[in-house]
Amino acid sequence: MGATDGEELAVYPGSFDPITNGHVDIIRRGAKLFPRILVAVLENPKKATLFSVEERMEIIREIFKDPPRIEVEAFHGLLADFTKLRGARAVIRGLRAVSDFEYEMQMALMNQQLNPELETLFMMPSARYTFLSSSLVKEVFALGGSVRELVPSIVEQKLREKFAADPESLSI
Ligand code: COA
Repeated sequence: MGATDGEELAVYPGSFDPITNGHVDIIRRGAKLFPRILVAVLENPKKATLFSVEERMEIIREIFKDPPRIEVEAFHGLLADFTKLRGARAVIRGLRAVSDFEYEMQMALMNQQLNPELETLFMMPSARYTFLSSSLVKEVFALGGSVRELVPSIVEQKLREKFAADPESLSI
């Protein structure tokens, strides 16, 4: 099996609005298990996001410009279809707490139904990130709190730029 085969590719999907240290932690853990990780950024025109899909992808590319190199792509529609198209056999999801479990199990089983070849792998982020979410980061930043320990520095910089351009934008 060569390194370009889909069996060696794992897809890590999410909204990443914005990516946090918890996501980065999961990606780094995944990169120890798979030679190729594809971060799949959900493009959902119905969901209001702070960062456009291009901005979210650019931020992730910047974070991973040094090893472990990872691939970044936008996707819309069903994750099961996207993974099939890319030939990926595994999806990585992070489990932060028991509260994530029910939703994640539902999604994993639905994806299994839609694409029986697809396996979902659950990984635990470092305990210090189990309370993190993208919405909380935006809220803390908008209310003047420090997000330095929670997100890569490029994300903090982009949040500052958004806030300077339009303070209301962070209420998403
Ligand atoms: N560290 C920090 N935060 C994390 C995290 C981690 N390791 N893992 C998840 N989160 C946070 C996210 O920041 C996000 O926070 P928010 O709600 O405040 O924005 C929240 O947990 C959930 O995000 P995520 O796990 O990325 O899920 P999502 O809802 O953004 O994306 C998809 C879920 C994209 C995987 C799913 O909607 C999907 O597959 N959509 C495609 C359509 C489809 O196939 N539907 C059928 C699925 S069965």
